[in-house]
Amino acid sequence: MQLHTASWPEVEAYLKTSTGIIIPIGSTEQHGPNGLVGTDAICPEVIAREAGEASGMLVGPTFNVGVAQHHMAFAGSMTLRPSTMIAAINDWIDSLVRHGFTRIYFLNGHGGNIATIQAAFAESYANWSLDADPCPYQLKLNNWWEMPGVMDVCRSIFPVADGNHATASEVSVTYYAYPDAVKDVEMTPKVAPVGGFADAADYRNRFPDGRIGSDPSQASAEKGAKIVAAARDALVREAGNFFKR
Ligand code: NI
Repeated sequence: MQLHTASWPEVEAYLKTSTGIIIPIGSTEQHGPNGLVGTDAICPEVIAREAGEASGMLVGPTFNVGVAQHHMAFAGSMTLRPSTMIAAINDWIDSLVRHGFTRIYFLNGHGGNIATIQAAFAESYANWSLDADPCPYQLKLNNWWEMPGVMDVCRSIFPVADGNHATASEVSVTYYAYPDAVKDVEMTPKVAPVGGFADAADYRNRFPDGRIGSDPSQASAEKGAKIVAAARDALVREAGNFFKR
């Protein structure tokens, strides 16, 4: 069930059976020569949508611009400042809590968001911890590729050069979600370099085509279907357990 396509009476009825909601959260940033700019938002969105269809759990709108300052030297990338994202996440949480949601599960698609989402949770809980009242809700963060069994599937499909950014796995998931957006691009070099980075200019200097450690020319919609199936099943279990607590 998706919040976007539900009516308010349907949401009210849902809240009588469950007070849990899944929020896909990602980023809008370059993903190399053949990866979609929306990759990190599309991956959690499609996985959550399929988990919602399989289980009846409610899936909220995708928080689709995150902390991506290091990608800003590539056309199309967008970023929030961490402080902006912390404030926005807290308004999303407060809006849902207002209606009686008590379990909010963020399914994340972007490593660069992790520290900021955790800071947003700390900010939310601090409002209660500084007061005498117990917090009536719980928040959870999980990265889609770290759910049980998912990385095993990715490694079995891409034993070599899945990589760290613009990975063959994530590009495959987006090709499964948007088969008309598949791009056939030759990679030079075949496997991208690895290493650290600081700001956007430094990133582009070290990783000129945007990839880190990956060969995403291995990606396909069929491979993406297998990854989504594993992630969907894991999310149904993980979010289901969290909602029951
Ligand atoms: Ni990504």
